[in-house]
Amino acid sequence: MSANTETGNVTTLPTSVERLALDEAGLDAAKRSLDQGAVVPSYGPWREDIIKLLNDALATEIVCIMRYKRHHFTAKGLSSPKIAEEFLVHAQEETAHGDQIAERIVQLGGEPDFSPATLLSRSHADYDDSTDLKAMIKANLIAERVAIEAYTQMIHLIGDKDSTTRRMLEGILSQEQEHADELSDWMTDN
Ligand SMILES: [Fe+2]
Ligand SMILES: [Fe+2]
Repeated sequence: MSANTETGNVTTLPTSVERLALDEAGLDAAKRSLDQGAVVPSYGPWREDIIKLLNDALATEIVCIMRYKRHHFTAKGLSSPKIAEEFLVHAQEETAHGDQIAERIVQLGGEPDFSPATLLSRSHADYDDSTDLKAMIKANLIAERVAIEAYTQMIHLIGDKDSTTRRMLEGILSQEQEHADELSDWMTDN
C-alpha cells in the first residue's frame, strides 16, 4: 500500500516524514559547558544576534525613559497636568521594559550595554525636547510606533529560536501598543 493512503478511518503516515524525536547529541551537550548557565546548545548561532537585538532594544527603552521624563517635568506647567502625569507613567513602564530586557541579556550570557556614550546611536527611537504639549505627544507617538515596528520585527526574527525572549517581547509589544493608542487619543483631544 502506498504511503499516506487512507484505510478506513486510519491514515498511514509516510515513512519518509521526519518523526518527532529529540536530538540525543544536544541532550549530551547540555550536560557539559555548565559555565553557560541557562544557555544550552539549541540556541546555536543565534545567541549573539539575539543579545545584539536586545541591547539595541535596551538603548531604545532608555532613550524613551529620558524623553518621557523630560516631557513629564516640562509639561507640568502646560494646559494638561493629567497628560504630564501620564508621561511619568509611561516612563515607569519603559523602565520596567528595560529592566526585563537587561535581565534576559544576562540570562543569555551577554552584557547589557548601558553606556551613555552610544545610547542615541543604538536607539531606534529619538530623544525630543519640544516645549509645546502637542509636539511632545506627536514625538512620543512617533517613538512608540517605531518601537512597535522594531518589536514586531524582532518577534518574527526570533520565532521559535528562543521562546522565552519572544514571549517577553510580545508582552512589551502589547504595552507599547497601549501607549500608542493613548497618545493617538490625546493627539485628537489636544
Ligand atoms: Fe517600552
Ligand atoms: Fe512605550
